[in-house]
Order: sequence, then structure tokens, then C-alpha cells
Amino acid sequence: MNVQTMLKVERLTKSYRAAGGTLTVLREVGFELGAGASLAIVGPSGSGKTTLLGLCAGLDRPTGGSVVLAGVSIGELDEDARARVRNAHVGFVFQNFQLVPTLTALENVLVPIELRGAGSRTAEEEARALLGRVGLGARCDHYPVQLSGGEQQRVALARAFMNRPKILFCDEPTGNLDDDTAAAMAELIFGLNRERGTTLVLVTHNLDLARRCQRVIRLKGGTVISDEQIGV
Ligand SMILES: Nc1ncnc2c1ncn2[C@@H]1O[C@H](COP(=O)(O)OP(=O)(O)O)[C@@H](O)[C@H]1O
Ligand SMILES: [Mg+2]
Repeated sequence: MNVQTMLKVERLTKSYRAAGGTLTVLREVGFELGAGASLAIVGPSGSGKTTLLGLCAGLDRPTGGSVVLAGVSIGELDEDARARVRNAHVGFVFQNFQLVPTLTALENVLVPIELRGAGSRTAEEEARALLGRVGLGARCDHYPVQLSGGEQQRVALARAFMNRPKILFCDEPTGNLDDDTAAAMAELIFGLNRERGTTLVLVTHNLDLARRCQRVIRLKGGTVISDEQIGV
């Protein structure tokens, strides 16, 4: 494998046991992504986008095929080992944010650092700076319930960047945002991609966001129906 490869997916398949037999939601998906690259995954609802993202990020295990993330074949690892790989390399922005309701915005952004046992004054300063960058400098002490959907999404993005991830996965990062806020969110994501060389994998319905990626993969019924390089 090329040393510059950040993510390599081969013949990836995911099936669930269903009442009438087996439900295959991803079938033989494959692609390879270099470090610092940006990929959009698009397709209709139910086509397997969230499932694919979760498998690539090591949140879930495949039924068949392999995922190599930052040089580690994660499909065979147990949950603890996958958690270590995620903590070292991965940022993830979930479709429904998944903020901790009992923690403030600042504390939520600090969660990845606490997990590493590396909490410090510097970490808190960085968390405040990231919240400032997503336009929430004045909201550090607010709880998720006190924030709008778009604001919670921005907290989730700040949290994802706290680890300085090599690769960032975002599931519909502009799904709940109005056009202006969505554009600001896109600026942040691509700005950090440029500045830090963070590899991006975005699931999105937003065509502007998809077009800003170097590559667009379209899923339908769990298979790749097109894989297009965007001219820059
Ligand atoms: N845990 C599960 N058990 C059974 N079916 C599932 C499970 N998770 C997802 N699916 C099914 O897999 C298909 C793809 O889901 P998903 O990846 O969430 O699609 P998308 O994100 O493109 O809308 C859907 O038909 C969904 O119902
Ligand atoms: Mg989804």
C-alpha cells in the first residue's frame, strides 16, 4: 500500500439479519483515498452512506471485505483496539451530533482530550479557540439544550477537530443548517483541510459541498454507481 494512503476500502460488504433472511446494505464497495484528499459520498436516503462512513471510521465491523485506516486493518480489530485507532486518528461528526447533554459546549469539545487523559490548561485554551472559530466563543458555558441545531452541529465539529485528526468523517454536516450557516460550516471544514492537511470524507446532500471535494462517490442500493474526480 502506498505510504500516502489514508483510507483503503476493498470489497466492503455489510449485511443484517432480517425477518425474511439477510438484508445486504453495502455490497463490494471499494476505493482508496490519499492523505489530505477530500471525498464526498452522495446518494438517496437508505443507500448505505451512514453505514459506509461508520465502517470506514471503525465504529462498526464489516460482514465482508476490508478497511485499512492510517495503515491499520481495522475490520479485524475488537472494539477496544478500534477505539484506540479512532482516538489517535479520527474525527467524526454524527448526523445527530451526539453531544453529551450534561456537559457544556466547552466540556463537550474537551471530551476527546479527557479520553486521552491529557486534560490541561492548554487543551482548554484550544477548545475555546475552536469554539470561537465556529462562531460560538460566547456560548462555551451553554448546554446542548440551550443551543440551536446548527449551533450543536458546530460544537460537534469543534469537538471532532480537538484531536487534530488525520481524517475527518462528517455525516451530513450541513443537513440542519440554513444556507448561510451551511456555507460557514463548509468554510471551516475545507479551511482546516487546507491548513492541517486533514483528509475529508463527507456524506452530503448539499451539491455545493460535494463539488468542493476532489472526488464524489455515488451510492445506490448499497453499491457504487459512479466515482468521479472533480477537476480543480
Ligand atoms: N442496524 C441495522 N439493522 C438493520 N438494518 C439497518 C441497520 N442500520 C441500517 N440499516 C439499513 O441499511 C440501509 C442503509 O442505511 P444507511 O446507511 O443509514 O443509509 P443512508 O445513510 O444512505 O440513508 C437502510 O435500509 C437501513 O434501514
Ligand atoms: Mg444517513
